Amino acid sequence: MSGFLREGLVRQGTDYFTREFGVAPDGAWSAPGRVNVIGEHTDYNDGFAFPIAIDKRTVVAARSRGDRILRVASSAFSGVVESNLDKLNPEDLKGWAAYPLGVAWALVQDAPAGTLTGVDLALSSDVPAGAGLSSSAAVECAVALALNELWKLGLGRQALARIGQLAENRVVGAPTGIMDQSASLLGEPDHGLLLDCQSLQAESVPLGFAAAELGLLVIDTRTSHSHADGGYASRRRSCEDGAKAMGVSSLRALGPEDLPRAAGVLDGETFRRVRHVVTENQRVLDTVAALRAEGPAAVGPFLNASHASMRDDFEISTPELDLAVSAAQAFGALGARMTGGGFGGAAIALVRNSDTPRVKDGIAREFARAGFTAPRVFPVSASAGARREE
Ligand code: GLA
Repeated sequence: MSGFLREGLVRQGTDYFTREFGVAPDGAWSAPGRVNVIGEHTDYNDGFAFPIAIDKRTVVAARSRGDRILRVASSAFSGVVESNLDKLNPEDLKGWAAYPLGVAWALVQDAPAGTLTGVDLALSSDVPAGAGLSSSAAVECAVALALNELWKLGLGRQALARIGQLAENRVVGAPTGIMDQSASLLGEPDHGLLLDCQSLQAESVPLGFAAAELGLLVIDTRTSHSHADGGYASRRRSCEDGAKAMGVSSLRALGPEDLPRAAGVLDGETFRRVRHVVTENQRVLDTVAALRAEGPAAVGPFLNASHASMRDDFEISTPELDLAVSAAQAFGALGARMTGGGFGGAAIALVRNSDTPRVKDGIAREFARAGFTAPRVFPVSASAGARREE
């Protein structure tokens, strides 16, 4: 089934390229969105996260040109945006094209000047935008992989993740960490990725959801979030302030045993932000340990605890996300939490396959009762990271 769908999206992407640019592409590359199972706002604190690459992808079909022109088209937007390798400038890049052209800009920073040629790029995607599933990282990673190959740069996947992050930070203006791009580039089917954001080491851990007849549901609240806005950046600043006041270079250096001292040193709000990060790092390690020792059903309670910490200590949840989580829990989910940066977007729930209809119905009913927009609820599975398709 997913092979069939994949072929469909790749075919769609290459056909779209041919229609837009009047010639067949040199190749097609794809990269997935991600769901973070656990470990939120830990990446930029040098901590741990445990995301998966999901079965929703962005395809980029691309063709080298003989000149220095870059052209990008997206099936979600009309019009072709044109730029030039000699004129790429983060300040001038705006709107959807900032993502693909931002990646080109980031790659050009380290490439020998003048050796690169222009490229035409056409993007198509089935990663829902604005749902907290990293549709932006999917674009960045697909484009980074394509340009790395067309320009023969020979960069490894961790370096490409940094390129995607740089594009996001400098060009899009969102001070995000390395998790999304790492998941998109390094994810594997049926595995979670235990990411150490300090060493950038990544370890694939078998999830075993299917064998245990469990599934992961995404509950997209259809409330928007943007990490270029203030909330994300202000949480990041609190973490940096907290680390400084505690005399460490990042919150990674603190463990649960340091919290009593932190309570004495920090103001109440900064303390709560720090407590979230410190306990969340521990929850990631505990989740992976429980998964290995007891299997995937044991993960549930850690998801619930993570949500409570984001709601009460980090204060990045919303009434819609809280309701998605409490309704999922009430109707039989083994665990649930908001996922991603927060302030809107999606929650996830770990659900027994046999309970899925009940959980979905329950969430729909609770949202209707609260007068909220009906959420989109759909399953995701851990899938392959970015790759060349043809
Ligand atoms: C967003 C960012 C990530 C990470 C998460 C929160 O998805 O892009 O780098 O910080 O929020 O865990």
